[in-house]
Amino acid sequence: MSSQELLRIIYNRRSVRKYERRPVPDDVLRAILEAGRQAPSARNLQPYCFIVVRDPELKKKLVFSEWNRFIEEAPIVIVGCGDSRAKWAIVDVVIALQNMVIAAEALGLGTCWIGHFTEDEAKRALKIPEHMKVVAMITLGYPAERPKPRPKKSLEELVRYDTYE
Ligand SMILES: Cc1cc2nc3c(=O)[nH]c(=O)nc-3n(C[C@H](O)[C@H](O)[C@H](O)COP(=O)(O)O)c2cc1C
Repeated sequence: MSSQELLRIIYNRRSVRKYERRPVPDDVLRAILEAGRQAPSARNLQPYCFIVVRDPELKKKLVFSEWNRFIEEAPIVIVGCGDSRAKWAIVDVVIALQNMVIAAEALGLGTCWIGHFTEDEAKRALKIPEHMKVVAMITLGYPAERPKPRPKKSLEELVRYDTYE
């Protein structure tokens, strides 16, 4: 793959909230999880666990608002959990999940980050132990929509050189 193609994957990614019913083949899922496994983590502690949720009843329990109802339609939800005893666990989980998001895009799948959930209830539903924090989730599946690009701030707004001023 050329560097141009890699950039195109990053630039073209959109949050996908409509999915085909088509299941995600195991080897495709594995390649996406592998992208998470290869992520950097502070002191290489890898203080995380990724729960692949496919069971429709469990997915239902991860819906905490009407606007996130689409979670039920996504073939897979990956729940990123970080060991709260590790200082950088949250950052580590986020990096690994974003690696999965980019890998999914490269393989023709869509994803959406899910930050709206009630942690205690999600933990109870998925039997997640006390010391593991639910950091975020991503939905995963073949896209049934091609969302328009969302407005992004300009580089001029976002970037400063050398000092903040
Ligand atoms: C940490 C985080 C949490 C998010 N939580 C939700 C969510 O609960 N539900 C949802 O529909 N989208 C969620 N999103 C997706 C954002 O709305 C989306 O990334 C943003 O509107 C920009 O659109 P784009 O991803 O297509 O560029 C979340 C994104 C991030 C990074």
